[in-house]
Amino acid sequence: MKIVIMTLFPEMIEDAVRHSIMGRAIENGLIQIEAVDFRAFSGNKHNQVDDYPYGGGAGMLIMAKPVVDCYRHIAKEMKSPRVMYMTPAGKVWNQEMAIEYSKEEEVVILCGHYEGIDQRAIEAIVTDEVSIGDFILTGGELAAMVVADSIIRLLPNVLGKEESFEKESFSEGLLEHDHYTRPQNFEGREVPEVLLSGNHKNIEMYRRENSLLNTLKKRPDLLKTVELAEKDKKILKKYNYF
Ligand code: ADE
Repeated sequence: MKIVIMTLFPEMIEDAVRHSIMGRAIENGLIQIEAVDFRAFSGNKHNQVDDYPYGGGAGMLIMAKPVVDCYRHIAKEMKSPRVMYMTPAGKVWNQEMAIEYSKEEEVVILCGHYEGIDQRAIEAIVTDEVSIGDFILTGGELAAMVVADSIIRLLPNVLGKEESFEKESFSEGLLEHDHYTRPQNFEGREVPEVLLSGNHKNIEMYRRENSLLNTLKKRPDLLKTVELAEKDKKILKKYNYF
């Protein structure tokens, strides 16, 4: 997969992707990430990309031309990529969307700054407006990294066996069960006994119950959308869910 991020701050992206699993995936050629500075497409000698908004109001807007020219330049070497615009007005990103995007060959992510981008640039090139939550960031770069990270870790061979995502939160619509490692007693807190028993069936049952209980306590809204087995419903009844 190739991800091209259009930004005024390419170093923010380049620094962030060098580390950990993303850095390893780049080194292993599993993913290509390119940060393109659309200031290079300003077309003026001061490299200015922003201007005052028509109709007045606070702040500056990014002009349409550098954004659209930059996109047309990078799109020459791409087929017909989806183009995400990071904005608090977009659809709120979730795991289902990450899975959907992880099947794409090429993705472009456009990062805004200041008061945003001239609407005509958005209409000309953007296919999806995406938010990472109901709060306002100073720019789209951190949001783009959140989205890119969540896509990249789903790509084949990016996670090692030890880091597998098959059983993680949201993969079945529920939160994960709690996890424990050594020591068996930490400051008086014991690891649940069943996990030491070696009885795999009991461990599976305990983990399912713990996962259902965590979801009920922390994100009860998720229980409305998940398909529950009869066994799960019985467990939830115990905790007065039904
Ligand atoms: N840009 C500014 N705030 C944002 C948000 N919450 N999500 C995505 N992009 C943004």
